[in-house]
Amino acid sequence: MKHYAIFAALFCCSPIFATPLYVTEVKTLYQDSTNTKVIGKLLPTTKVEVLKTQNNRVLLSIEGYQEENKPAIYYIAGKRILSAGFDSKANITFKKGEKETIDGKNYYKVKAEFWSENNALDPDLKKIYTQAKNLFEQNCSMCHGLHNTKEFSANQWPSMFKSMAGRTGIEKKDYQLVIEYLQKHAKDMQ
Ligand code: HEC
Repeated sequence: MKHYAIFAALFCCSPIFATPLYVTEVKTLYQDSTNTKVIGKLLPTTKVEVLKTQNNRVLLSIEGYQEENKPAIYYIAGKRILSAGFDSKANITFKKGEKETIDGKNYYKVKAEFWSENNALDPDLKKIYTQAKNLFEQNCSMCHGLHNTKEFSANQWPSMFKSMAGRTGIEKKDYQLVIEYLQKHAKDMQ
């Protein structure tokens, strides 16, 4: 009986069992649950964990890589796939883990917490990728054949996409979603 209670307590409250959610559109970040000052942006398809809900906001935890002293979290060390970007004056505490050096630059595995509105989060990453894929395929094959996502590297896609996006009907609010999709399916990604 006693063991059962301990097991139940672990199961319900351990963060290991929290369901990961994925960001569906660019989200605004705040220092706490009430402050309206924007301290950063969270990018679509980024994986987050909800730690707390309060005042229609959620306390989110995200993991990624930080280039030394840069106010941003990247998906992978050495690739410019942005997960979150911060105001350089924002007071964010990064919990630093292992260091990796790539092309002479230092990257740290980091974990950070911040608040955002309680919306635009979905457990179904495949659905978010499908939405991005449809936008890409429908809008980028009108004037020439559709280019394969594997034609460019993760670092090449943002500027390539931006040079073409203005010629399409893709709404500005969806640019980052399509860019993240292209980068995460680029030739140097699995
Ligand atoms: C309105 C017509 C039009 C649309 C829509 C369009 N393109 Fe293009 N694209 C062109 C033209 C014309 C070129 C030839 C080079 C140039 O004009 O810049 C080109 C060239 C390219 C190239 C080759 C560039 C190179 O240097 O090899 C890529 C890749 C590309 N487009 C991707 C895209 C993507 C991704 C989209 C959707 C966001 C898109 N295009 C939408 C007209 C279009």
